[in-house]
Amino acid sequence: MSNDSPIGVFDSGVGGLTVAREIMRQIPNERIVYFGDTARVPYGSKSKDTIIRYSKQIIRFLLTQNVKAIVIACNTASAFALEECKKEFDIPIIGVVKPGAKVASEATNNGRIGIIGTEGTINSKIYSEFIHEINPDIKVFGKPCPLFVPLVEEGLLNDPVTDEIASRYLSEFKDKDIDTLVLGCTHYPLIRSTVRRTVGDKVTLVNPAYETAIELRHLLDKKHIANIKEYDSPSQMYKFYVSDAAKKFKDFANSILPFDILTTQQINIDEY
Ligand code: DGL
Repeated sequence: MSNDSPIGVFDSGVGGLTVAREIMRQIPNERIVYFGDTARVPYGSKSKDTIIRYSKQIIRFLLTQNVKAIVIACNTASAFALEECKKEFDIPIIGVVKPGAKVASEATNNGRIGIIGTEGTINSKIYSEFIHEINPDIKVFGKPCPLFVPLVEEGLLNDPVTDEIASRYLSEFKDKDIDTLVLGCTHYPLIRSTVRRTVGDKVTLVNPAYETAIELRHLLDKKHIANIKEYDSPSQMYKFYVSDAAKKFKDFANSILPFDILTTQQINIDEY
């Protein structure tokens, strides 16, 4: 492993691309190996034990790619598996929940924060825990939005169906007087405009990806493993793997990344 080794980034599917995209923007010298667990998405309704097992398999695969650090670009896996994975693997690993909690605590003026995420993330209460470590007086209101992930995976990013589901899920925040809402699932920034329309302009939307990329940059600097080499093209820097439906993933990735990816390779994650 050396400074020009890549960063491993993973999610249950396409959602983690919102984090990868932010890393590409903020730390443009870093190479990335992305894994989307498209065969086993969604993670949000599965048990903690299952998500720990999946996450460990993926990290074992990423280690075969010689990665120097790992970003769990999935709130559910960060909530359930980050601590277990840190214990098992001797490599720096960060998740997205702590950075998201930090930004939300800084963003709120009235001390009332909404969190939307998968059932796993919301029921784990991990966002409340981290926010209360920073400020115990903040009121946190969580709401699982399980249908958002399949809607995003199906590409229904601007669609009346997504609008309808969003207004049902988010209507309960109306009388909670929140001024900040955390997009606590990495799929949700892809329907940010729908969420914005539904909750109105006065609520600050927090995407944990931004702060996660900052935390990663600090980590690489602190460990003296940042890359200073420069590359000519994205294809030299970024590699994409999935556990199923490689073509669908590639088409989706090309619609949201600032460049076209040439290949996405399918692997059998159960071998790891
Ligand atoms: N994008 C993931 C998250 O941030 C998981 C969504 C899912 O697979 O349910 O929680």
